[in-house]
Amino acid sequence: MNRAASLLEVDDLVLHFPVSGGGALGLWRRSVKALNGVSLAIRRGETIGLVGESGSGKSTLGRAILGLEPVTSGHVAFAGIDVTAGRRADLARLRRETAMVFQDPSNALNPRLTAGEAIAEVLRVHRKVLPAEIPARVSELLSLVGLDPTLGNRRPQALSGGQCQRVGIARALAIEPTMIVADECVAALDVSIQGQIINLFIDLRERMNLTLVFIAHDLAVVRRLCDRVAVMYLGRIVEEGPTEAVFSAPRHPYTAALIRSIPEIDPDIVLPDAPMQGEPPSPLSLPAGCPFHPRCPHAEARCHADPPPSLRRRDDHGWACILEPGALPTPLNASPIPIATGESA
Ligand SMILES: Nc1ncnc2c1ncn2[C@@H]1O[C@H](COP(=O)(O)OP(=O)(O)O)[C@@H](O)[C@H]1O
Ligand SMILES: [Mg+2]
Repeated sequence: MNRAASLLEVDDLVLHFPVSGGGALGLWRRSVKALNGVSLAIRRGETIGLVGESGSGKSTLGRAILGLEPVTSGHVAFAGIDVTAGRRADLARLRRETAMVFQDPSNALNPRLTAGEAIAEVLRVHRKVLPAEIPARVSELLSLVGLDPTLGNRRPQALSGGQCQRVGIARALAIEPTMIVADECVAALDVSIQGQIINLFIDLRERMNLTLVFIAHDLAVVRRLCDRVAVMYLGRIVEEGPTEAVFSAPRHPYTAALIRSIPEIDPDIVLPDAPMQGEPPSPLSLPAGCPFHPRCPHAEARCHADPPPSLRRRDDHGWACILEPGALPTPLNASPIPIATGESA
């Protein structure tokens, strides 16, 4: 890991949500173990995909990175700011330099504001331009995300899902962020609109050297967009590396199973032996040993008992499993997955 060049460093991050049950008396107290020792470094200008099944901790990690969630232990440092210390001045700087784009484009916008007003609001709050320059900057931002500036007069109800998502991205860009965390931001959109938003991110990254944390459960989208990918399972990163390396030669059985489960690769190919069985265990009580062992086709006795394997690295590609790379069956067809593109949303 080239720590010197990192914009973001996550170090052994643990985040447990306390929960209680048994009615008003709160007879039991437990915690949801959402993040269990996550370490990750992201370089400036890099796009990293966070993937994993629902509940694996992707959104929690995204929120913790932006200082939106108090952490149990560990650290997040963004451009020299210790996000986890919670100092107000530091958090204020973090707010000026980072932005989040959410899943549901229409719900994320205030229904009472026009698209233009929603973007102007961000420019005003962050004092990005002089008040007199706001309308021109709003038009500029709308054009930047591929929207006709006249759409700025419309409220979200009068825009399509793809258009709302572009307005959401324009609001994020209005603060001129160094880093954007996009949480399932294309999941609610049609495939062709997804392709357009992905292309927009590729374009913005080139033009603005934007650092992007792209959370998605759709591996095909991540493969198209991301330089690197981190695979999460039960609040841990089980594999992390250059996207093509991870997709063409996964080193963790969980990643291999996830890749085999991508139907888009080739719907006619019969899934090989040992597709992933069952559901992940509850993050309320994690299994002993390797958290993946109950579902792993390669689990040995020591995987049931030994402490969870830590991430090993070779060739800038890390994996948290006792298996050696190459021990996994070769994944199916490893060619990149095309994503449909079309006309403007
Ligand atoms: N505010 C919260 N309180 C309690 N549990 C939470 C909270 N937020 C998330 N969780 C739990 O933490 C785990 C990880 O959730 P999340 O980060 O949303 O996963 P993902 O985004 O990968 O689907 C899940 O078990 C989820 O139910
Ligand atoms: Mg999520």
